[in-house]
Amino acid sequence: MADSHVKMAQTTPQEVIVAVVAGLLAPLLAIVLIVQLVLGFQKEHKPDTSGEAAQQATLSRIKPFAQLAALDASAPKVEKSGQEVYDTACTACHAAGALGAPKFDNKGDWGPRIGKGYDTLIKHAIEGFNQMPARGGNGDLSDVEVARAVAYMANSGGASFKAPEAEAATAAATPAAADAAPAAASSSKPDPAKGKAVFASNCAVCHATGVAGAPKVGDKAAWSARISQGFETLHNNALNGIRGMPAKGGNPSLPDADLVNAVGYLFTEAGGKL
Ligand code: HEC
Ligand code: HEC
Repeated sequence: MADSHVKMAQTTPQEVIVAVVAGLLAPLLAIVLIVQLVLGFQKEHKPDTSGEAAQQATLSRIKPFAQLAALDASAPKVEKSGQEVYDTACTACHAAGALGAPKFDNKGDWGPRIGKGYDTLIKHAIEGFNQMPARGGNGDLSDVEVARAVAYMANSGGASFKAPEAEAATAAATPAAADAAPAAASSSKPDPAKGKAVFASNCAVCHATGVAGAPKVGDKAAWSARISQGFETLHNNALNGIRGMPAKGGNPSLPDADLVNAVGYLFTEAGGKL
């Protein structure tokens, strides 16, 4: 009796272990089986990517990236907006006014600087000015990106400089873009007087000061060889882009009639006869 009692006392812990292990294994096994079931189920129902509908869906999913890549091909890179440039490259000093930088959104700081004119401010931001490092210390920024950031900042301080991307947005938002079709009918007749305003808002950012190697407006030496190509070739090159010149000056929504007028303006300002 005492013997069997001892034996029972000895086996009980083993039984407990077996019971515990079995108790653990059972749910584990169940989990493994369920996971396998789910995986198998997913495999069976994997979308058939060879189907036309599936390919269409894939195309529409990657379209935004494909379009970015297409933009990339016509321009050296996708230009950032003024706000994006400011947020990444200028805010470090211009948010709080470090080193005496004119503060964002501060009319007192920007007033006298705005008086220098957009072109001078762009020049100073590109080349550097006293404690202001060239391109805010970010050599990767293009001239246009810096110009946009300058407009974004100066406008926060009371200026109304027209940055290229703001133009593109308003042109797309106003019915003017929709009017483009009838206007394009007379596209072979450039109107330089109308082109002046188009130039100011779409082309001046490069052609006013000659940034990025753009021929400066009214600079006969820079334009004479170009003018001898004839108006149609110049219009075509401005339409499709050539070397550093982005297609339509980087504004895809610019109506062709406006482009024709702007080229006409550049053409006649440099002494070309239409
Ligand atoms: C390291 C700090 C720093 C960074 C980064 C910086 N700035 Fe500045 N910026 C300054 C300072 C300091 C001044 C004032 C210089 C002066 O007037 O002596 C200034 C002045 C300016 C001015 C006015 C120039 C003038 O003629 O009055 C412009 C425009 C400007 N910055 C644009 C930019 C842009 C655009 C960026 C980003 C791409 C940028 N800055 C990034 C420090 C900076
Ligand atoms: C981002 C800067 C930039 C903008 C914006 C821009 N251009 Fe240009 N443009 C250039 C550069 C750079 C060249 C010189 C290209 C070359 O010959 O290498 C150029 C050249 C040209 C030429 C001469 C092409 C040739 O065959 O010699 C015309 C015409 C022209 N631009 C018209 C325009 C018009 C019109 C606009 C506005 C709708 C405009 N550009 C906006 C940078 C720009």
